[in-house]
Formats: sequence, C-alpha cells, structure tokens
Amino acid sequence: MKLLRKLLTWCVAVGALTCAASALAADAPQDLVLKGDAACTACHDDSDGPELLAIGKTRHGTTADTRTPSCTNCHGPSKDHLGYKGSGKPPKPDVTFGAKSTSTADARNGACQDCHTKDSKRSHWEGSTHQARDVTCAACHKVHVAKDKVRDKATQAEVCYACHKEQRTLANKPSHHPVAEGKMACSDCHNVHGSTGPSLMKRNSVTETCYTCHMEKRGPFVHNHQPVAEDCSTCHNPHGTTAENLLKTRAPFLCNSCHTPHGPIQPSLANGTAPALTAPGWWNPSVITQGKSCVSCHAQIHGSNNPTSAGQRFFR
Ligand code: HEC
Ligand code: HEC
Ligand code: HEC
Ligand code: HEC
Ligand code: HEC
Ligand code: HEC
Ligand code: HEC
Ligand code: HEC
Ligand code: HEC
Ligand code: HEC
Repeated sequence: MKLLRKLLTWCVAVGALTCAASALAADAPQDLVLKGDAACTACHDDSDGPELLAIGKTRHGTTADTRTPSCTNCHGPSKDHLGYKGSGKPPKPDVTFGAKSTSTADARNGACQDCHTKDSKRSHWEGSTHQARDVTCAACHKVHVAKDKVRDKATQAEVCYACHKEQRTLANKPSHHPVAEGKMACSDCHNVHGSTGPSLMKRNSVTETCYTCHMEKRGPFVHNHQPVAEDCSTCHNPHGTTAENLLKTRAPFLCNSCHTPHGPIQPSLANGTAPALTAPGWWNPSVITQGKSCVSCHAQIHGSNNPTSAGQRFFR
C-alpha cells in the first residue's frame, strides 16, 4: 500500500473530505506499468505481492500493443472496490484469482478468454479435463511475475506437481525422460489446454505424439509388432520407471503378459532363422531370464524390415 492510500484512509477516518481531494490534486496518480492502471496503482504496488508491478515486464505490459490489458480487463471494472469510502477492508474487486478467491472458475477463466479464445492451441479448452475439473488459467499461469514458471521448461513441472504428485514420484525413478534435467517439459507431450487425443496428448494419439521425437519407431516396417503401432504406453511408462528403457516391467515378464514363453530355443528348432548369437550356449535357459532376456534375440522389438522369417521374429 502506498503513502497516498494511507493518507486517503486517514483523511476518511478524520472525516475531512477536502483533505482527500487536495491529496489527490497534489499527487495525481500516473500510470505505472499498464494502460490506465493509475486507478489501481494509486493504492497497489509491490508491497501487495512481491512482484505485483512486474506485470509491466511481460507481454501484457507492452503498452504500445493496443490489445494488451489494463488492470480492469482481468479484475473487472470493480466499481464497489474503487468507490469504497469506509475504513477497514473494501469489498473485493469483481474478479479475484488468489487462493482465497470467491470468483467462480468461469468468471476467472472468462477474464482471460475475453482475449485468449481465438488461439488455435486452446481451441479444445471447453470440455477438456482441466476445464471440467475447474482448474483455472490462473492455477497454472502467474501473470504478475516477470517469468511465468509454467511456460519455462526448467520450472514447468513444479507447477504441475502441485496437483500431480504421482508424476513427481515417477520422474525420480532411474529411467525417465529428461524433464527434471530441464531439457524436456510435460508440454512436449501434453497440450494441457485440451486436445483431440487421449490423456491431453499433443497429437491425436499416444504413438503420434511419441513419433514427434522418436521418428524411427514409426516405420513403416515390413513386419510390425502389433502393440507398438497401437500404443507405446502398453510397454512404456513415459513418466518414469524402475526398469531400464522406461519399460513398465522388464523382459521376460513384460513379454509374457501376452506371449506364452517358448523356453530355451534349441538350434535345431531355430530352423536357420535364429540370430547369429555370439554367446556360446545361446539355447541355455538362463538366456531367457538374464540380461536383455527375450530382447537379446528379438532385438528389433519395434518392428523389422528384414523380409525373411528372421525379420518376422524381430531378430534383425
Ligand atoms: C483506495 C485504495 C484502493 C484502490 C484505488 C484500489 N484498491 Fe484494491 N485493495 C485496496 C485495499 C485496502 C485492499 C485490501 C488489502 C488487504 O486485504 O490487505 C485491496 C485489495 C485488492 C485485491 C485483493 C482482493 C482479495 O481479497 O484477494 C485486488 C485483486 C485488488 N485490490 C485489485 C484492485 C484493482 C484491480 C484496482 C483498480 C481497478 C484496485 N484494486 C484499486 C485498496 C484499493
Ligand atoms: C485485454 C486482453 C487480454 C486479457 C484480458 C488477457 N490477456 Fe494474456 N495476452 C494478451 C496479449 C495481447 C498478449 C500478447 C500476445 C501476443 O503477443 O501474441 C498476451 C499474452 C499472454 C501470454 C503469453 C505471454 C508471452 O510472453 O508470450 C500468456 C501466458 C497470457 N497472455 C495469459 C493470460 C491469462 C492467464 C489471462 C487471464 C488471467 C490473460 N492472459 C488475460 C491480452 C490479454
Ligand atoms: C494445466 C496448466 C495450464 C492451464 C490450466 C492453462 N495453461 Fe496456458 N499454458 C500452460 C503451459 C504449460 C504453456 C506452455 C506450453 C504450451 O504452449 O502448451 C501455456 C501457454 C499459454 C499461452 C502462451 C502462448 C502460446 O500460445 O504459446 C497462453 C496465451 C495461455 N497459455 C493461455 C491460457 C489460458 C487463457 C488459459 C485458460 C483458458 C490457460 N492458458 C490455462 C499451462 C496451462
Ligand atoms: C492479465 C490479467 C491481469 C491483469 C492485467 C492484472 N491482474 Fe492482478 N491478478 C491477476 C491474477 C491471475 C492474479 C493472481 C496472482 C497471479 O497470477 O500472479 C492477480 C492478483 C492480484 C492481486 C493480489 C495479489 C496476490 O498475489 O494475492 C492484486 C492486488 C492485483 N492482482 C492487482 C492488480 C493491479 C493493480 C493490476 C494493474 C496494474 C492488475 N492486478 C492487473 C490477473 C491480472
Ligand atoms: C490446480 C491443479 C492442477 C494443476 C496445477 C495441473 N493439473 Fe493436470 N489435472 C488436474 C485435475 C484435477 C485433473 C483431473 C484428473 C485427476 O484428478 O488427476 C488433471 C488431469 C490431467 C491430465 C489427464 C487428462 C486426461 O484427460 O486424462 C493430464 C495429462 C494433466 N492433468 C497434465 C497436467 C500438466 C502437464 C500440468 C502442468 C503444466 C498440470 N496438469 C497442472 C489438476 C491440475
Ligand atoms: C514423453 C511424453 C510425456 C511426458 C514428457 C509427460 N507425459 Fe504425462 N502422459 C503421457 C502419456 C502417453 C500418457 C497416457 C498413458 C499413461 O497414463 O501412461 C500420460 C498421462 C498423464 C496423466 C494421466 C495419468 C492417468 O493416470 O490417467 C497425467 C496426470 C500426466 N500424464 C501428467 C504429466 C505431467 C505432470 C508431466 C510433466 C512432469 C507429464 N505428464 C509428462 C506422456 C507424457
Ligand atoms: C520432445 C521429444 C520427445 C517426445 C515427444 C518423446 N520422447 Fe522419448 N525421449 C526423448 C529424449 C530426448 C530421450 C533421451 C533421454 C536421454 O538420453 O536421457 C528419450 C528417451 C526415450 C526412451 C529411452 C529411455 C532410456 O532410459 O534410455 C524411451 C523408451 C522413450 N523415450 C519413449 C517415449 C515414448 C513412449 C514417448 C511417447 C509417449 C516419447 N518417448 C516421447 C524425447 C522425446
Ligand atoms: C511390446 C512392447 C513395446 C512397445 C509397445 C513399445 N516398445 Fe519401445 N521398447 C521396448 C523394449 C523391450 C525396449 C528395450 C529394447 C532393448 O533393450 O534393446 C524398448 C526401447 C525403446 C527405446 C529406447 C531404445 C531404442 O530402441 O531406441 C525407445 C526410444 C522406445 N522404445 C520407443 C518406443 C515408442 C516411441 C513406442 C511406440 C511407437 C514404443 N517404444 C513401443 C518395448 C516396446
Ligand atoms: C500387449 C501384448 C504384447 C506384448 C506386451 C508383447 N507382444 Fe509380441 N506380439 C503381440 C501380438 C498381438 C503379436 C502379433 C500376433 C502374433 O503373431 O502372435 C506379437 C508378435 C510377436 C512376435 C512375432 C510372432 C510371430 O509369430 O512371428 C514376436 C517374436 C514377439 N511378439 C515377441 C515379443 C517380445 C520379445 C516381447 C517383449 C519384449 C513382446 N513380444 C511383447 C503382442 C504383444
Ligand atoms: C536365445 C534366443 C531367444 C530368446 C532369448 C527368446 N527367443 Fe523367442 N524365438 C527365438 C527363435 C529362434 C524363434 C523361432 C522359433 C521357430 O522359428 O520355430 C523364436 C520365436 C518366438 C516367437 C514366435 C512364436 C513361437 O513360439 O514360435 C515368439 C512369440 C517369441 N519367440 C517370444 C519370445 C519371448 C516372449 C521371449 C522371452 C521370454 C523369447 N522369445 C526369448 C529365439 C529366442
């Protein structure tokens, strides 16, 4: 709160209205950071929130851009708040956003959507999981700060973890995408503003989303491994796993959930289609359970371009 407001409050308290008028005239408030913010910044400054005026350093503060907001575009015209003459706390502005906000989620989101509905990235917001669960724009975006954490790869996950604790736990497992390292963000796979895919995927499906970075898994392959083309997350948990390679469980258990284990392969059974294994005794049962297990022979597990039956078995 600034000196001026203290003075006004004091003037009101002693009942000297002329005093208030002269205080205003002597110190006619100027806009500080946004167009027409003087009506508010006469009383509000960084002492109300550590970085309240830092909004001036964001795109919202580009006053030369005619589309940028004033305080009232987000908080509403707030006539009762502005016109308050009593002592004690004034009535709240029309729209508030903080933890104790009494504004409905629709009112809070509406304040942003007056300007932000046309963006194609948010065209599926209505009916999306976050919208339906009353997660507001301001639950993720902080607008009164120089740097909005949720839009920075290095800090975004922290914002999400406040509500998604399970993903935090998974991200700390030995095998994980480099999210904690700041090289990747949740938003590389998710469009949190709504999407046409499952689980708020950025693309229409899980596989299409994964292909944006793992193109070599798209094929086309001469021999497809059916579950790969359907949904990568059948075998992988993209958030983190104890098993290597983000696998939900390691082979052979992973494979055995769909296949009947064939046990050790005798060279005679291989019928010329077996991989040229260097390890002697490759038909030994331990090969099935140790090391890479099934994948030490079926190495092209995502699909093979070898037209022979070796390719069909995903050997190479
Ligand atoms: C005459 C002084 C004065 C003016 C002008 C003023 N406010 Fe306030 N405002 C206050 C006071 C006093 C509080 C209560 C502060 C507290 O709770 O510590 C407050 C609280 C707020 C809050 C927090 C409400 C809450 O409970 O979460 C917001 C947001 C706010 N004002 C926005 C605005 C906006 C936007 C404008 C301009 C349209 C504005 N104020 C103009 C004095 C003023
Ligand atoms: C009066 C219109 C208006 C309102 C209301 C508004 N914005 Fe904006 N916002 C803008 C404009 C203009 C930009 C700059 C966009 C550009 O350059 O393309 C912007 C940019 C942004 C950006 C991107 C900033 C950047 O650095 O690229 C975010 C995030 C954002 N707004 C969030 C919000 C949220 C959250 C709300 C509601 C609390 C909101 N906006 C309300 C007009 C508005
Ligand atoms: C669950 C968290 C979350 C919610 C809720 C959310 N956003 Fe975002 N927003 C993000 C993230 C993460 C980014 C950056 C990555 C991206 O663009 O997807 C972002 C980016 C933006 C941008 C940046 C400009 C751009 O298009 O690249 C704007 C503007 C924006 N959001 C507006 C909104 C509005 C308006 C709402 C409410 C209708 C909203 N956001 C709700 C997390 C959120
Ligand atoms: C783009 C929309 C937008 C604009 C413009 C805007 N605010 Fe806010 N205001 C918010 C949101 C959202 C919050 C919740 C905290 C946050 O996001 O940083 C908030 C919080 C506040 C608070 C409460 C501080 C707190 O952290 O509890 C005050 C006071 C306030 N705004 C005053 C103002 C004033 C004064 C202006 C004009 C200089 C202004 N606001 C402009 C959206 C906006
Ligand atoms: C304020 C709390 C909150 C924040 C912050 C938040 N979310 Fe959510 N999110 C939810 C709720 C509530 C759901 C509904 C499902 C549930 O209860 O987990 C949800 C669901 C999801 C889903 C599943 C959607 C579906 O349709 O299955 C994804 C993906 C998601 N959030 C990603 C994110 C990401 C990424 C961020 C950070 C950029 C984020 N969320 C931030 C509350 C939040
Ligand atoms: C590499 C891509 C990728 C990244 C990065 C990613 N996710 Fe996901 N997420 C997915 C996929 C795929 C699913 C759906 C399958 C599943 O649940 O495993 C999903 C599902 C979810 C769900 C819904 C889970 C459920 O049980 O329904 C939430 C919540 C979620 N992600 C949050 C996050 C958060 C928070 C981050 C960032 C810390 C994040 N995700 C990063 C790919 C990703
Ligand atoms: C934005 C790019 C990006 C997207 C999208 C992406 N990944 Fe990745 N992925 C990476 C990077 C980068 C690495 C390498 C990590 C490293 O070397 O530490 C990686 C590594 C992996 C690994 C190997 C992990 C290990 O321990 O070596 C698997 C498995 C994987 N991703 C699966 C997926 C799946 C499944 C999806 C879709 C749900 C997906 N990825 C989406 C970038 C991406
Ligand atoms: C049938 C289970 C299964 C499915 C489905 C699956 N993978 Fe894998 N993936 C594996 C196995 C097993 C490994 C370990 C291979 C090894 O150890 O040589 C692996 C390893 C990986 C690796 C790291 C090593 C490498 O080959 O680059 C990436 C990246 C990867 N998978 C991406 C994907 C993507 C993207 C999809 C979806 C298009 C997918 N996976 C679907 C089983 C699967
Ligand atoms: C989600 C179920 C599923 C999982 C998990 C799975 N597969 Fe498959 N696999 C299939 C289906 C479906 C086919 C194609 C139908 C068939 O021919 O049996 C197939 C085909 C194969 C084939 C070719 C079979 C043939 O007759 O030519 C091999 C080899 C194979 N899988 C090995 C593996 C290995 C090794 C793993 C573990 C890394 C694994 N699969 C994990 C479902 C799965
Ligand atoms: C030592 C190498 C080796 C290991 C390890 C191995 N396989 Fe095989 N697998 C083969 C050979 C060779 C064939 C071809 C047999 C034939 O043509 O009759 C085969 C065939 C298959 C087939 C095709 C259908 C069938 O039964 O003939 C499936 C499915 C399969 N393996 C799954 C697995 C699974 C699951 C594991 C792990 C539990 C595994 N394999 C481990 C060498 C191996």
